[in-house]
Amino acid sequence: MTRMLIAGNWKMNGDISMAQNLATTIAREGDASNCEYLLCPPFTAIQTVAAAIGDSGISLGGQDCHAAEAGAHTGDISVGMLTNLGCEYVIVGHSERRSNHGESNADVKAKTKAAVEGGLTAIVCVGESEAERESGDALAVVGSQVASSLPDAASATNTVMAYEPVWAIGTGKVPTVEQIAEMHIHIQSVLAQELGNDSAKTFRILYGGSVNAENADEILRTDGVGGALVGGASLKAESFLAIGRSCP
Ligand code: 13P
Repeated sequence: MTRMLIAGNWKMNGDISMAQNLATTIAREGDASNCEYLLCPPFTAIQTVAAAIGDSGISLGGQDCHAAEAGAHTGDISVGMLTNLGCEYVIVGHSERRSNHGESNADVKAKTKAAVEGGLTAIVCVGESEAERESGDALAVVGSQVASSLPDAASATNTVMAYEPVWAIGTGKVPTVEQIAEMHIHIQSVLAQELGNDSAKTFRILYGGSVNAENADEILRTDGVGGALVGGASLKAESFLAIGRSCP
């Protein structure tokens, strides 16, 4: 069985000494036989984290990338720049990128294509807003995000999906296990339509949104959940490692 993926999205937090300390502790205490741990620090801390994790088996990723290989894109980071620093993963289409930077499904698709062609595993984020959940549109919204955010080249070996309901991010609100299972199974069926059954069956689908040391056990045992994308609780080694230890 594939190990679960427990990914820490540090977002825009910390400084170099915090990154160094957090990554060192996770590398020292994280048992890679429980799960695959992945750290996604801010771009400015990637090299520090790479040095701190060394060959511990902890994976490294970026929080975003540009779709182009190089060029006049002030402030952006290319896939090649990430692989050059030892990254194996990149998060694309996080709801904070979609809302703060106006990223569309087409943008996410272009970034995912660049990531997989450049040798990274893309973690493609999807999720409905609170209004969409309340109006009964969650399955339709997320289904259409999945269908329009994935390039033809996406497969279970180069892409991971992350279901992050926008209303659960940083709020302490978590969907019920029934809602999580329903959505993960729905995502899998959309993947099967888009990419074919064989690829869909083995896709890792992470859950993200207020995952912590207390609720991880229940969430990670939910049908269709292949790991977690963790924000706030990934900024403390203790809670991040506890989430990893909760993997069934
Ligand atoms: P929180 O775990 O802080 O809710 O953030 C989730 C998230 O957005 C991870 O990408």
